Parts: sequence; structure tokens; C-alpha cells
Amino acid sequence: MSQELTTLIEPRSEEGFVETKHIRDITNRAMAFIKSGFPLHFRGVSGTGKTTLAMHLAAKIGRPVVLIHGDEEFSTSDLVGGEYGYRVKKVVDNFIHSVLKTEEDMTRRWVDNRLTVACKYGFTLIYDEFNRSRPEANNILLSVLQEKMMDLPVAREGDDYLKVDPDFTTIFTSNPEEYAGTHKTQDALRDRMITLDLDHFDRDSEVGITSSKAQMTKKNAEKIVDVVRGFRETGEYEFAPTIRACIMIAKVVKTRKASISARDEIFQQICLDILTSETSRIGIRQDQGNAKKIIVSLIEKHCNTNGFLVRTKSDKKKVPVSTAKAA
Ligand SMILES: Nc1ncnc2c1ncn2[C@@H]1O[C@H](COP(=O)(O)OP(=O)(O)OP(=O)(O)O)[C@@H](O)[C@H]1O
Ligand SMILES: [Mg+2]
Repeated sequence: MSQELTTLIEPRSEEGFVETKHIRDITNRAMAFIKSGFPLHFRGVSGTGKTTLAMHLAAKIGRPVVLIHGDEEFSTSDLVGGEYGYRVKKVVDNFIHSVLKTEEDMTRRWVDNRLTVACKYGFTLIYDEFNRSRPEANNILLSVLQEKMMDLPVAREGDDYLKVDPDFTTIFTSNPEEYAGTHKTQDALRDRMITLDLDHFDRDSEVGITSSKAQMTKKNAEKIVDVVRGFRETGEYEFAPTIRACIMIAKVVKTRKASISARDEIFQQICLDILTSETSRIGIRQDQGNAKKIIVSLIEKHCNTNGFLVRTKSDKKKVPVSTAKAA
């Protein structure tokens, strides 16, 4: 008899999940593909909300979630199962996290891994960044997705194959193939899933997410988002700044009690630190010089509130930062 040891995740959207028209639209399109019985694949650059959306969809589906992160070291047995020595057995039930029975033994026996468990019980499988695993490790998915059958190795006593439960659903995410540490997906696998290409969020969603994650007013979040989006539009970087930059700036601003104003040097410094480093792989000062100038001018454009005029060099001398902050 095979054993199971799989951590199930409660199907729940992440805390502070924001649903704007843009996000609802993606969710509805994705849900229609899932309801039509197709594996779904969110593809996009870093920070486009793939993992968060996958969890949100899983919450809508409502079945327990099995989460796998793609890994260079993965082999098929990491997905399907293998023979292990020491085992603590948990009997998995539909009740999340509840363990009905545990027992320990020292004999080598077959242990089902996450993919097998998800197929058997009809759980939702989120295979995050699946193209970080080597393509041959993912070959097992070809028959699972197409024939709804999983070939089982001889070592696992019992049937030669497992019939996939009709409730089994798959959501894949991946970064573009040119990203470091990713593999090219085999055509046959890519052809079995419906891919939704995600781009950076729209302004409304970025404001909503920044405000929700940093617990900041929308008005303040807007200023940060406009600086980040303005920088994104310039193309003066190696990697486009993402929503993560907005969230980071907002959180650090709160920690440092800085004001979101062109007059606040701390705020400027936070923006410069986060935006120049997030968008380049190697911190070459020369290259960052231009980016810094752009960021400072964007801050002056978008964060020049409270009736302050754009700060010029001469007015910088006249108005100490502390005064500006108090004003
Ligand atoms: N709808 C949303 N509501 C609230 N926060 C969100 C939402 N979508 C994304 N986020 C936040 O934005 C950030 C990036 O999202 P996420 O991690 O899902 O991106 P990703 O595309 O999976 O990135 P990567 O490719 O780097 O893994 C996270 O901090 C996440 O919490
Ligand atoms: Mg992710």
C-alpha cells in the first residue's frame, strides 16, 4: 500500500487581495478556461501577480490546494512519489490541515508525492514557476493532462496507473524563458494548457494593491505609483520596476515616517535606493546616474503637493527639509 505525506493549503486568496475591474477581468477569463476543463497557465515577467492570481482562482474553485514550486533539482519522483525509509504517515482528508491518523515506521515503502495526491483526490494543483524544473521531470504531466491517466512506477504496488479524479485542476505559472534559471517548456506541454500572458497591472490596480499592502491612503499610494509608472514608461532600466517596488517604497516610507513629498529627502532617498537597485542587475553608478535624474524629476512632478512649487536648486538652499516637512 502506498503512503501519503502532502501538505495541503487552504484555498484562500491572500490577505488584502485587491479586486479591481482589471483583475476581475483576468480572473473571469481564467475561470472560463478552467471551467471548460483546461489547465491554465499564467505567464509573465516578475511581479505581474501570477502566483497571487493562481491562489485567488484556487480559492474560487474551493478544493484543497497542493502547491509545487518548480526546482532545477526536481525529478519525476519528486512529483509522483518514491521509496523512502522513515515515514510519518498522515491520512489526508478533505478537511484541510486535519490529520486523522499518524503512524511511524522504518521500512522503505512507497510514498505518494504531491502530484499523485492531487490527481487521486481531485485537488487543485498550483505548479508555480514550473519551467524552473527540468523539462524531463515534467513529462509525467503530459498523460495526466491529456489522457487523465498517470503512469505509476512498478515500485508503487497496486495499479499500473492512476485515473485522475475529475475535480483535479491545474494552474501553472512561469516567467519568460529568457529569465535566468528557467528552461524552455516542451511544446507538447505548452500545447496542453491555455496560456494567459500577464503584463504589469493597470494604474487603478497598482494604487489599490499598494494602498492595501502598505495600509496607506489611496491618495498617497497614487503618488508612489505614478513615480514608479513614470519610470517604467521611460525604459531607462534593465528590468522594468514592478508593483513590488510600489509596495516596498510605501512600506519603508511608513517605517521611516517620511512624507510623500518632493521636499522630503528621506522619501527621495527611499525611491532612489529601491528603484535603481530593483531595475538593474549590477549597480553600475554611471548607468544609474541617468535613472536617478529621471526618478528625481518624476518625484518632483508627482509628489509636489501641499501647494509647493517645484523645488529648484536655489529654493533647496532656502528651505531646509525639516521646515518643508512641517509645512
Ligand atoms: N490582486 C492583488 N491584491 C493584492 N496584492 C497583490 C495582488 N496581485 C499581486 N499582489 C502583490 O503583488 C506582488 C507581486 O505579486 P506576485 O508575487 O503574485 O507576482 P508574480 O507574477 O508571481 O511574480 P514572480 O514572477 O516574481 O513570482 C506581491 O507582493 C503580491 O502580494
Ligand atoms: Mg510568483
